[in-house]
Amino acid sequence: MKIGNIDYGNRPLFLAPMEDVTDVGFRMLCKRYGAAMVYTEFVAAEAIVRSIKATLSKMTINDDERPVGIQIYGRDVESMVEAAKIVEQVHPDVIDINFGCPVKKVASKGAGAGMLKNIPLLLDITRNVVKAVNTPVTVKTRLGWDNDNLIITELAEQLQDCGIQALTIHGRTRSQMYTGEADWTLIGKVKNNPRINIPIIGNGDITSPEEAKRAFDEYGVDGVMVGRATFGSPWVFKEMREYLDNKTDDATPLSIDDKIDILEEQLKINVERIDEYRGIIHTRRHLASSPIFKGIPDFRQTRIAMLRATKVDELMAILEDCRKLLKE
Ligand SMILES: Cc1cc2nc3c(=O)[nH]c(=O)nc-3n(C[C@H](O)[C@H](O)[C@H](O)COP(=O)(O)O)c2cc1C
Repeated sequence: MKIGNIDYGNRPLFLAPMEDVTDVGFRMLCKRYGAAMVYTEFVAAEAIVRSIKATLSKMTINDDERPVGIQIYGRDVESMVEAAKIVEQVHPDVIDINFGCPVKKVASKGAGAGMLKNIPLLLDITRNVVKAVNTPVTVKTRLGWDNDNLIITELAEQLQDCGIQALTIHGRTRSQMYTGEADWTLIGKVKNNPRINIPIIGNGDITSPEEAKRAFDEYGVDGVMVGRATFGSPWVFKEMREYLDNKTDDATPLSIDDKIDILEEQLKINVERIDEYRGIIHTRRHLASSPIFKGIPDFRQTRIAMLRATKVDELMAILEDCRKLLKE
């Protein structure tokens, strides 16, 4: 599968953009363990244009994580075009536009999935952003606003005509938020529309290697994007990749020690590349939700301690305690 000049290989897996989750350390590790492309968390166009420092820091990317997409969202043509031009100066491999965020503070102002209520504006923004930059522009969206407005089949064609180079579809409506199950049949319908020639990346509820394989086999998508299943386990990409490539027999599974080493590395990268306080804030959430700690008796107390830690040494000591407990 190709976007612009970059070949993402056969049946690529992508790390979903996630606010407060897909920070630089996490992205680098997901890349190392098999994600074909990673994305920053979404960045507000208006804040980019106003040079808000905390916003610009979300756009810091590292060569080790390439290919990487920077995702932007906004609600008017001017700020989105201006923001895309600024983003281009950071040299991401892709500029992704978010037309899918369902949260009230975004969608009720007309941005993110809110744009699904104003298709002419959504298309105008897309067309103008594509025109304003040389970097490939992609879009991530949902099936429609609600079940009575499942517009994705037509919207995909319209977005393709605007010049986007790939489309990611999360198989839910805005009204569903994150409830119910993702509907992959509609994603498959878009993919199998003979008028569609851009890559279609399917997204929603993929949590295991078997589910990833099924998404490719049954729905024919060009790529699969994984979100929540990556929390605290950047190695899920390795497990999915090996399964998709029929390499599970020769694979060396990661041990608990390896996995704790990876989480400690994530903490170190974030503290070095962001700063101690925010690096910890970002990483401790991953640690607290990592599936590897589920086997620890009465993990709840440890989890609370993880979420309260404010110093690297403190978090490292908790992780080392977990290592000992898991080996007992
Ligand atoms: C904590 C969180 C933050 C998210 N932030 C973003 C975001 O910034 N941009 C975006 O396009 N989607 C965002 N999403 C949606 C995910 O990218 C993805 O579409 C969704 O979680 C469904 O995939 P999954 O079932 O694999 O998790 C977010 C989801 C979660 C859970």
